[in-house]
Amino acid sequence: MAARGRFYVTTPIYYVNDRPHIGHLYTTTLADVLARHHRHLGEDTFFLTGTDEHAVKVVESAAGRGLTPDEWAARNAAEFQRAFARFGISNDDFIRTSESRHVERVARYVGALLESGDVYAGDYEGWYDPGQEEYVPEGRAREWEYRSPISGRPLVRRREQNYFFRLSAWGDPLLELLEARPDFVLPEARRNEVMGRIREGLLDVPISRCHEEGEPRWGIPMPGDPSHVIYVWIDALFNYLSAVDTDERRGFWPPSVHLIAKDILWFHAVIWPAMLLALRRCPGFDWVELPERVYAHSFWISEGQKMSKSLGNFVDLERLEAYADRFGLDALRFFLVTQGPLGTHDADFAEARFVHVYASELANTLGNCAHRVAHMTGRYLGGQVAAPDPSCPAAGGLEAAAGRAVDEALAAMERLAPDRACAAALDLVRAVNAAIEETRPFALARDPERRGEVGTILYRCAEALRIAALLLAPAMPERMAELLRRFGAAEIGERIRAGAHGELREWCRWGRLAPGTALETGPPLFPRHDAA
Ligand code: MSP
Repeated sequence: MAARGRFYVTTPIYYVNDRPHIGHLYTTTLADVLARHHRHLGEDTFFLTGTDEHAVKVVESAAGRGLTPDEWAARNAAEFQRAFARFGISNDDFIRTSESRHVERVARYVGALLESGDVYAGDYEGWYDPGQEEYVPEGRAREWEYRSPISGRPLVRRREQNYFFRLSAWGDPLLELLEARPDFVLPEARRNEVMGRIREGLLDVPISRCHEEGEPRWGIPMPGDPSHVIYVWIDALFNYLSAVDTDERRGFWPPSVHLIAKDILWFHAVIWPAMLLALRRCPGFDWVELPERVYAHSFWISEGQKMSKSLGNFVDLERLEAYADRFGLDALRFFLVTQGPLGTHDADFAEARFVHVYASELANTLGNCAHRVAHMTGRYLGGQVAAPDPSCPAAGGLEAAAGRAVDEALAAMERLAPDRACAAALDLVRAVNAAIEETRPFALARDPERRGEVGTILYRCAEALRIAALLLAPAMPERMAELLRRFGAAEIGERIRAGAHGELREWCRWGRLAPGTALETGPPLFPRHDAA
């Protein structure tokens, strides 16, 4: 992927009926951090998010408000777009499944699958969860005592004439794929789950619903049979393809990673690749390779409790805004990225934890270190970094520490661990603090004979900090742009702020900081807050 210099990252497209909350912002922020990183590396990057609009619930909610589904969807999609813009998300496109570019292409994809026989008309009867718009296999329905685990409402028996996708044909190819490409589904525990379920056997899946007489038309008509509309999940999954299925964008395909949470793993790790394997065999679609990776993270909970509609405890936009106002947007992003549910454990969004992470990592470690280095440079060196003396050993370990931090951060980003990339950068900042404690430039400065040593130490500290800022920039573009500006790299800072392409490896080259560069102290990057 990196070798090809191309990176395509997606988030789920979110149900347009919901109000944006921490879950949506989290996955989208992770995608944003990866996208910014790959842009900094100079790769051709495409970052897609959007809204999933064709659920039946949209028709009902719109009717309840005296609106058409279109009007209601447009209003809510705009809310997601506003929220993402507010939280610094640098998506390259925002796809809405009601847009004609999507509708037309999905009709083409499903038409091709009908023609090849991968989609066929048949009868279906089974347990159905109306809230989730999903059929539930018999075994699972029994396990759940015929009630939806999500809404608690009874499952209903439903029979319909339907179109089906021949998922049953793809069990072996999918298992082979998962064997051959161990990082197709990540983390590994999720891959094992998926393989276990595939081995239990795959049923064909219904992929349409009957269009009820008199209902507003909402959804993509089944090609050749307008009495059916394509089931919302099938319609939705195709967004990843439809958004780049143009002459200018086709080169971005396949996705480097689909970021999702564990709730929708089955659709992305099984149904979606099977659909693509089927589509690939259809004339004109041989370019449709499989995505490289599907990464399913876990869930945020709130102050120790699962978030749910009935508890009304979603960390919603208003709460997230309040954190961004109080601590700064970048502090919120940093918290989400470093403390979130990457991996298989849920993570708790708790105020006490936020306050602690902010104080220890951002205010006391990073902010304080930057201030110390700039302040001492001002006080002892007239504000300008000196030329380091290569023969002076003081703080000499920082060059190697910076090299290690860069390697570790780049490797962590490659394995979709932006939390580890941030940790590597913060370790470098801690190494700077330790070097200051050890070499004591503030004490050496009292001796005029040792000014050269002070200059060398502070040069090395500033250079290591400049590199740490570059590594933290995808998570905290605004604050790190400001730090870079204060450390003589305003132009790079501006590019980072704008989410522009760059040349990260060159930016991180030790020694780029020119002797004579003026450092600025300025107000604290992360002002201290008293614990609430
Ligand atoms: N519309 C479908 C997805 C179709 S993708 C082709 C859908 N939408 S959703 O609005 O329910 O979004 C689900 C996603 O939101 C999760 O997969 C995850 O990315 C995010 N989150 C929702 N709640 C979450 C948490 N509590 N914690 C973390 N992320 C979660 O499913």
